[in-house]
Amino acid sequence: MIDLHAITRTVRLPDDRMLHILRGVDLTVATGEHVAVVGRSGTGKSTLLNILGLLDAPSGGEYLIEGTPVSRLSNRARTVRRGRDFGFVFQQFNLLPGRSVVENVMAPLMYAKGRAFWRRRALASQMLDRVGLGDRLDSMPERLSGGEQQRIAIARALVRGPRVILADEPTGALDVQTGQTVMDLLDSVAAETGAALVTITHDLSVAARAQRVYRLADGVLVPLDLGSAGAEWVGDVPTAVGAGTRPRELAPPVPRELEPPAPTRARDGGEPR
Ligand SMILES: Nc1ncnc2c1ncn2[C@@H]1O[C@H](COP(=O)(O)OP(=O)(O)O)[C@@H](O)[C@H]1O
Ligand SMILES: [Mg+2]
Repeated sequence: MIDLHAITRTVRLPDDRMLHILRGVDLTVATGEHVAVVGRSGTGKSTLLNILGLLDAPSGGEYLIEGTPVSRLSNRARTVRRGRDFGFVFQQFNLLPGRSVVENVMAPLMYAKGRAFWRRRALASQMLDRVGLGDRLDSMPERLSGGEQQRIAIARALVRGPRVILADEPTGALDVQTGQTVMDLLDSVAAETGAALVTITHDLSVAARAQRVYRLADGVLVPLDLGSAGAEWVGDVPTAVGAGTRPRELAPPVPRELEPPAPTRARDGGEPR
């Protein structure tokens, strides 16, 4: 489904230094697979997810979606694929304020063609039924709890039937119990629809639900075994024990003000490939 080969992402800082966020990421995700990526904050997890979801372009390497090199797609084709093939779930839900629950879930269908466009309200309410919010269609999301808001976001991510669900810290703003419920839902809707699921998380119990777990550190993905060998936290970084790995030196923290404001803008002035 998805193949990343030696993906790099480098940005130019305001003082002209180059920041090498990703240094050669290899990753293959098959249809229906659940893959988790863990790593401390600032290691490039969101950058990687934004590249996977065609919200950002790599600086180097090759990204193939079902064999098609993304670098050869026109901007238009990339936008179409992003809307059609990917569903996004973010830590902060990213719901549209001032829009009702059902309007939020309908939003991705505004650009759909034909039947999906004309049936958008029915499709959105079906998805909301599926996530247990079929009786809250006309509520305002900001009145609902965090767990309910994340369920709206999941319904919105799924309403166009994506091939891949990309979840960036989906439980990060939720208490443990609510987070588990949200992950149960994500896992089951992914399984039902055969979509691949890529989850970024700080939480090992969330990561443990995936078939494969990677740790992003120093710009590369390292397989992480959460199995019988066990794993323990070093700071907020899980480290496989018994795999001969030692905690790496942590990269110096990057100042907060360098954090990207939004994933959709080209923030470095450089042309994405
Ligand atoms: N366009 C950009 N310009 C400058 N710095 C960036 C840009 N995008 C990301 N960064 C920096 O790269 C690092 C990785 O960011 P991010 O992918 O958001 O990490 P994570 O999601 O693992 O916390 C952070 O230190 C962030 O501030
Ligand atoms: Mg992040």
